[in-house]
Amino acid sequence: MKKLSLVFAVALASFVSLSAQAVDQREYHKDVIGKDCKTCHDQGLKNYPSDQACTQCHDVDELAEQTARSEEDKWQNPHNNLHYGKELPCIECHGEHELKKPMCSNCHTFKYDKHK
Ligand code: HEC
Ligand code: HEC
Ligand code: HEC
Ligand code: HEC
Repeated sequence: MKKLSLVFAVALASFVSLSAQAVDQREYHKDVIGKDCKTCHDQGLKNYPSDQACTQCHDVDELAEQTARSEEDKWQNPHNNLHYGKELPCIECHGEHELKKPMCSNCHTFKYDKHK
């Protein structure tokens, strides 16, 4: 009986920490957005935010300039790249409640030192 409740307690603890993690927010958004989930979750909490949610505050053309690379490497720019131009959804590369790798890393070894 003791053993069983221990197992249950462990399972419960991991469940609790999982759901706490689900609402973890990135440091840089805490001040600007706070607890207002709907600012990003324009399609409801059960769905991922649309790109329009992010582009309320972030400008796609400005982003492309901010992450521009040298002429030789110009198409490695995550915000204006060889395969997708400026069309790739933000959440292919940026997570809010968990860190995400830029999807380019699935196939390439380009360095993106400033990625968050
Ligand atoms: C209400 C405005 C707002 C919304 C909506 C918003 N952001 Fe931000 N975001 C900011 C501000 C302000 C900062 C901090 C200043 C900056 O770096 O641009 C920031 C910072 C960031 C950074 C870190 C930049 C850095 O290097 O410091 C990333 C990445 C980012 N946002 C991605 C996103 C994505 C993806 C979405 C959509 C899911 C999103 N943001 C939605 C306002 C917003
Ligand atoms: C292909 C992956 C990818 C996509 C799609 C993407 N990003 Fe990024 N983003 C990155 C990477 C990688 C960096 C860091 C660049 C570096 O290290 O040179 C970055 C940097 C940023 C920054 C910081 C810019 C700076 O240097 O000040 C912001 C803000 C940001 N992204 C927001 C967004 C938003 C909003 C979208 C959607 C409109 C988006 N990103 C789409 C990969 C991506
Ligand atoms: C800055 C934008 C932003 C804000 C604010 C935000 N989210 Fe999210 N949320 C995302 C993104 C991006 C994802 C996609 C996966 C990830 O980053 O973890 C997501 C995914 C989720 C998911 C998972 C959905 C699924 O289908 O798996 C849940 C649940 C969630 N958010 C809850 C919340 C709650 C609750 C709040 C408010 C406390 C909140 N979010 C605020 C951007 C945001
Ligand atoms: C599913 C695999 C895959 C993904 C994901 C992917 N690429 Fe590629 N990419 C390739 C292939 C295949 C080639 C052509 C072969 C080559 O030259 O390496 C290529 C070529 C390139 C090239 C020209 C050759 C070079 O190495 O400089 C650039 C630049 C590039 N990709 C950028 C990107 C960027 C930026 C991302 C993320 C937005 C990305 N790729 C995502 C498969 C991928």
